[in-house]
Amino acid sequence: MTNSTPHLIDRFGRRVDYVRLSVTDRCDFRCVYCMAEDMEFLPRKEILSLEEIGRIAQAFIRLGVSKIRLTGGEPLVRKNVVALASAISATPGLSELNITSNGSQLRKQASALRKAGVTRLNISLDSLQPERFTSITRTGKLDQVLDGINAAREVGFDRIKINAVILNGRNEDEVLDLLQFCMERNLDISYIEEMPLGLIDDHDRAVTYCSSDEVRRIIGQRYQLLNSAVSSAGPSDYYHVHGSPIRVGFISPHSHNFCHLCNRVRVTVEGRLLLCLGNEHSMDLRAVLRSGASDDELEQAIISAMDLKPERHHFNLHDEPQIVRFMNMTGG
Ligand code: 5AD
Ligand code: SF4
Repeated sequence: MTNSTPHLIDRFGRRVDYVRLSVTDRCDFRCVYCMAEDMEFLPRKEILSLEEIGRIAQAFIRLGVSKIRLTGGEPLVRKNVVALASAISATPGLSELNITSNGSQLRKQASALRKAGVTRLNISLDSLQPERFTSITRTGKLDQVLDGINAAREVGFDRIKINAVILNGRNEDEVLDLLQFCMERNLDISYIEEMPLGLIDDHDRAVTYCSSDEVRRIIGQRYQLLNSAVSSAGPSDYYHVHGSPIRVGFISPHSHNFCHLCNRVRVTVEGRLLLCLGNEHSMDLRAVLRSGASDDELEQAIISAMDLKPERHHFNLHDEPQIVRFMNMTGG
C-alpha cells in the first residue's frame, strides 16, 4: 500500500470499516426464519480453510477495517475457531473482534474465546419458554442456551447482546419478558424484523411480519423508551429504558432503511465477498486466494470490489424472496 492510512470507500462515499466473516454454514439449530427443515451444507472443499479466512481478515485490517465479527451458521461448531479468533485479534489495527452465536456451545467455549481476544458477543434468544424455544429453533434446547449465556456472563465480555427475531403469532407476546430478562442480567437486546433471505417452508413471512414500531409500542405499555445518543453507524436504532443501563436496539430492514449508513461487507464461508445483505453483488475471493495471489493482490481485489457495493437493499415481503441465499450462508 502506498497510502499510509488506507480506507475502503465505496462509490457512494461510505467508508467500510466493518467485516462480518462467516466461518461455517453449519449449525446445530434449524431456526424457522433462517433455514428450511432439510438443509444441505457445503462440501468441505468448497469452504475456506481457517488459514484462508485468517488471510482475508488480515487483508481487510491492513485496509483500515477496525471491527470484525465472526458469524455462521453457528461459528462455534467450526473446529479450531478459537485459534482463528486468536490470530485475528492479534493483528495490529483491529479494535473489536465480536462473535454472533446461538449460545449452545458457550458453556464449553466462552472462556477460551475471551482469552483469544473476543471483545463482544451477540447471542440469539427468541423465547424464554422451553417448548416454544424448541419449536422456533427446531432442535435447540433452552436450558443449554441459558446456561451458555450464564457462562458468557461469568467470563466478562465487554458487552453481551441478545438478538431476538420477533414473529407475529410466534413470540410477539414475549417482547416484555425478553426485555425483563435482559434488564435483570445487564444484557443489551436487539429486536429484529425478519428478513426475506432464502425460501423457507415454515411460515409466510408476510403474515408473521412484526414491525419494530409494533415492538416499541408493546414496550411502551410498560416502560418509557428514551432515544439514545449512541449511534452504531449500522442498522440498529438504539434506545434506553428509563432507569436501566441496558441498550435496546431495533433492527428494521423493512420499516426503516439504513442503507445510507452502511459501513459493512460480508464474506461467506465459500469466500464470496458480499457487498450487501439484500443484493447478490459479490466477488469471489476464494478464486483470488486459490489462484496463488499475493497479499498485495488480495488487497487490490478487495479494493476493486468496493465499486460493486449497491446503494441500498429492496426487501419485499409479498413476492418470492429475490435473495435465494439463506441467512446461514450469508453470515447473520
Ligand atoms: N431475518 C432476520 N434475522 C435472522 N437471523 C437469521 N435469519 C434471519 C432472518 N431471515 C438472525 C438470527 C441471529 C442472527 C445471526 O441473525 O436470529 O440473531
Ligand atoms: Fe443457526 Fe443462527 Fe440460523 Fe438459528 S439463526 S439456524 S442459530 S445460524
